[in-house]
Amino acid sequence: MTIDIGAGKLLAQEPTCPRDADGRPRVFVEGSGAYLTDPDGRRWIDFDNARGSVVLGHGDEEVAEAIARAARGRSGVGTAWSPVLDSLLGQLQEVCGGDVVGLYRTGTAALRSVTCAVRDARDRSIVLSSGYHGYDPMWHCDEPFTPNQHGIVEFLFDLDVLAEWLSRPEQVAAVVISPDHMHLGERWYTEFTRLTKEADVPVIADEVKVGLRYRAGLSTPLLDPAVWIVAKCLANGSPVAAVGGDAHLLAALEDVSFTSYFEPTAMAAATTTLRRMATGEPQQAIRAAGDRFIAHTRAAFANAGVPIDLAGNGNLFQFVCADDEVADAFHAAAAAEGLLFFEGDNQTPSAAFTDEVVEDACGRIDRVSAALTGRFTDRELTEESWYASAWGAMDGLADRPRTREETTAIVERLWED
Ligand SMILES: Cc1ncc(COP(=O)(O)O)c(C=O)c1O
Repeated sequence: MTIDIGAGKLLAQEPTCPRDADGRPRVFVEGSGAYLTDPDGRRWIDFDNARGSVVLGHGDEEVAEAIARAARGRSGVGTAWSPVLDSLLGQLQEVCGGDVVGLYRTGTAALRSVTCAVRDARDRSIVLSSGYHGYDPMWHCDEPFTPNQHGIVEFLFDLDVLAEWLSRPEQVAAVVISPDHMHLGERWYTEFTRLTKEADVPVIADEVKVGLRYRAGLSTPLLDPAVWIVAKCLANGSPVAAVGGDAHLLAALEDVSFTSYFEPTAMAAATTTLRRMATGEPQQAIRAAGDRFIAHTRAAFANAGVPIDLAGNGNLFQFVCADDEVADAFHAAAAAEGLLFFEGDNQTPSAAFTDEVVEDACGRIDRVSAALTGRFTDRELTEESWYASAWGAMDGLADRPRTREETTAIVERLWED
């Protein structure tokens, strides 16, 4: 069966989604647990999970029932305040902390709103930023390390550049980062926190991707942020983002409202998902399943001489390929085996990855490995491979030993890509 998509390019937007080697969106007609079904009836294993937001798996029964009840008008109404809202706010504060909390539909909207609120409260113009914070043009920088027209300075997770800007703390409203746990470790977070605390500049932790992913709470205890944002592990794919933190810094949130604020199905998805995520159990199950897959894959590639390693852990990991050619061959072989990966970015298994699913995924990876055997014996992973992979997942520089001159050269190579 063929399905006509993007016919005549009717869609003005080009949303991020799995695409084939020619850039055409891959189409799926069904999802169940860890599996997706394409129009030809082939079953794929989903490591993308709507860029990490379907954390409990597709069509999760409990979430589906809660949404169905809400859609039938049995748990609040979109017109007005409901007890479900109070319960969601309480859950969020309990799990993530903060004096006050707020709700949005997307991470992009939440990030723009809280950053503007903090800037208002601090009455300073510069915001130091690293990592992706959504598609909003305010984040777009033509070059790194200097302010764009909105006062955003992209420091690419480089602590030397951060230290230079923080030596003028009177200009800086906040530092906003999207934490990464594949290419940044404890040393980086310790030094980052020392620098921001010494400068007395508040940290906004954009935990849209990583909040609740690793444990029942924010992912980075070392950060102690003034403001946090979580989204992807909150509602099993329904459109809910949440923020919380210091009441003074978030005072301008009082003006925030939107028509779908009380929409009951989104709230039902969030309260139901959050109840499960607050136990920490789904995160532990994902970690165990993901770790098994990583260990198996690493061994298979090493035995077959395939120059691909893996960064991160079972909750969130990345394939690190020697170069682009290896990456292209890997993605083609994976697609042929029905393994759906978020290409060039991080993989996020769901809690639906049971032992059987992992077994199935490992069998498919063995066939991917066999298809690549002998093709890239002349390649190996280099510093460049690690920096390029990190850039793909965190939009910045991995924390690896380097001089200032090397930083400039690496950024020059990667910035335009
Ligand atoms: C760290 C981070 N911040 C913000 C966003 C934007 O969130 P959304 O896509 O919900 O607008 C994303 C999305 O991938 C993200 O990973």
